[in-house]
Amino acid sequence: MTTYIGTDTSRVDGRAKVTGAAKYAGEFNTTGLAYASVVTSTIAKGHIARIDASEALSVEGVIDVLTHQNRPPMASVDSAYKDDLAPEGSPFRPLYDDKVWFSGQPIALVVAEEQEIARFAASLVRVEYDKEAHITDLHRQRNMAFALKSPANPAENPYAPPKSRGTAEPAFAAADVRHTAEYFVPIEHHNPMELYASTAIFEADGKLTVYDKTQGVQNVQRYLCNVLLMKPEDVRVISPFVGGAFGSGLRPQYNVVLAAQAARALKRSVRLVLTRQQMYVLGYRPAMIQQIALGANAEGSLDVITHDAVTVTSQHELFHRQETGWSGLLYKSAHAKYTHKLARLDLATSCDMRAPSAASAVYALECAMDELAVALKLDPLELRLRCYSDRDQHADRPYSSKNLRECYRQGAEAFGWGERNPEPRSMRDGTELVGWGMATGVWEALQMPIAVRIMLTANGHAEVSCATSDIGTGTYTIMTQVAADMLGLPIDNVTIKLGDSTLPQSPVEGGSWIAASVSNGIATTAGSVREELLRLARQMPNSPLLDATPEEVALADGKLVSKRDASRAVSIAEAMRHGGVDRIEQEKTTTLEDDGSHAHNTHSAIFAEVKVDEELGVIRVTRVVSSVAAGRILNTKTARSQIIGGVVWGIGMALHEETLLDHKFGRIMNTNIAEYHVPVNADVHDIEVIFVDEPDDIVNPLGIKGLGEIGIVGVAAAIANAIYHATGKRVRDLPITLDKLQREIGK
Ligand code: MOS
Repeated sequence: MTTYIGTDTSRVDGRAKVTGAAKYAGEFNTTGLAYASVVTSTIAKGHIARIDASEALSVEGVIDVLTHQNRPPMASVDSAYKDDLAPEGSPFRPLYDDKVWFSGQPIALVVAEEQEIARFAASLVRVEYDKEAHITDLHRQRNMAFALKSPANPAENPYAPPKSRGTAEPAFAAADVRHTAEYFVPIEHHNPMELYASTAIFEADGKLTVYDKTQGVQNVQRYLCNVLLMKPEDVRVISPFVGGAFGSGLRPQYNVVLAAQAARALKRSVRLVLTRQQMYVLGYRPAMIQQIALGANAEGSLDVITHDAVTVTSQHELFHRQETGWSGLLYKSAHAKYTHKLARLDLATSCDMRAPSAASAVYALECAMDELAVALKLDPLELRLRCYSDRDQHADRPYSSKNLRECYRQGAEAFGWGERNPEPRSMRDGTELVGWGMATGVWEALQMPIAVRIMLTANGHAEVSCATSDIGTGTYTIMTQVAADMLGLPIDNVTIKLGDSTLPQSPVEGGSWIAASVSNGIATTAGSVREELLRLARQMPNSPLLDATPEEVALADGKLVSKRDASRAVSIAEAMRHGGVDRIEQEKTTTLEDDGSHAHNTHSAIFAEVKVDEELGVIRVTRVVSSVAAGRILNTKTARSQIIGGVVWGIGMALHEETLLDHKFGRIMNTNIAEYHVPVNADVHDIEVIFVDEPDDIVNPLGIKGLGEIGIVGVAAAIANAIYHATGKRVRDLPITLDKLQREIGK
């Protein structure tokens, strides 16, 4: 049953992608296509007093300029704008009225015969505003402890942090060794290669077919219907390929509304591709100030952990994740307490970005653990082992599986951790200080209800369809592998259809849940196909499977075979021929029943080596070993790619990434990838990925946990800890740039 599952099968869509045959949302063409360009607000808060589009309209080739004053009708109730991922509050409504919520907000759309004309004309739209005072600075007074107690423009946080346990304050006071510090993660922006893009095809009957860059075609389809007051059968959303999304495509973005609005207003197909600059206003990893306090006894077991956080959201929506929850989950400690506040700023709503909450929170936790290890004069890995927990500390329940111990062991061995001299500044390579640091990573293993349709033809070809996306993670490939194994077919005989809202129901691709969801979904539907084939096979004269039950047969090599006696078999083609059918089609919805008795998580151990130029403070991450326990690995090649991608992003988080605001204007300044730094090839050196065995027959029938996010969690902490080990200096304020490190070294 596992010819393909667990192998390093190359991407089935790889050839299409590298040859350009794979089409993305901004590449679909049609006759009479018009091009749109967005005009964005230059103030952070207030109202539009006047828009003068006359100059733009006078440019030859400009078709129309849409504003809140002349757009087609759209829904007036908040609920219409609530997509599957909408947090509490009022979702942003593009071109709805004259209110400006954030700098960079779309306020007009120029549509023209050519892309360049639209973009040029957009620069000619004159806007006057009634400005109001804005607030975009989370820190105020540049004081983290102050901001934690009294955040800028605080909101009631609708999310209750995990329940405290024990009595944190007295336990902390009584602890032998204590560590308290504040850590900062700045606003970070997604920078997928593919820009936000929508091509809205206006069909002859007024229906819309919308090619959109999204992680969830059905989420966008429902949203568009609600917002534009259209019937479900009149809107189809398609997204066969996605050039990276990382959470930025979970919620419908404004470009899809504007493209669809323009298509309806003009009765013409319209394409809108945002510019890289315009990508920087839509959602981002919320900046997070956090304080971690750890108290331990002298032997290095943790008594108490407190985690206080404040994160950024917009004025109109309260985005939040379980930021503080990760701390209490991971390590054994009798006492724990958490607080989580929200600061409402005049910015777009923050959103999910790869391993939302965990990437930020575990960074702080794992740096704090490193600092505690130093205070205890204990090896940081040894501290983790002394605090190791075999049970979910929040709910006091076992894990469905947790092989983190093996991640530590294999990771440490591969890295050579045993050779580490614990003394900071003790290891050198020429003029460079060498530092070795480590951290733990954790993420959740979820599964969502999903529907899968399989059509098996008599010639042994299967078409497997589901409305999920493949955001570059390799979903096409793992679906092909799983279906081939479940149906006993060669991999070339399986075709996958996804990324189309008319296909069987799927949740958005996110949260690392699609691999487990869709694979188990395929297994369920393949089971129905097998049953139907058996029904036909049993009706054949002298059927060798006459008394076989569905559990007793498997599909292999194009045949239905008895598991007890392989000589008893019927070919798929024969069974169908006798049954008088040329195809079997089944669609099933699979929902995992979770009785709550077990925690489902993935884990990792990350070991990082840095080399720091002692004079200049230049940091290089020369080696990373990421050792991951994530249940059954479906494809060792694409899985490895996922983890490498996460590690590279972790390098960016530790050393490069930071969205910079000019608070005077409430505007993001570095809205391009020249000034918003991300790791480039020269910043990425040796990365080794290890998958430890983690059989798990509780999490779901196939034992799959998902890998999209675990790769980034803990990486920034491992690097920060390595920098401390190299230099003896702690920079707790990400990114750890040369200036900050030099300031510390100079102390
Ligand atoms: Mo992920 S941040 O759920 O795309």
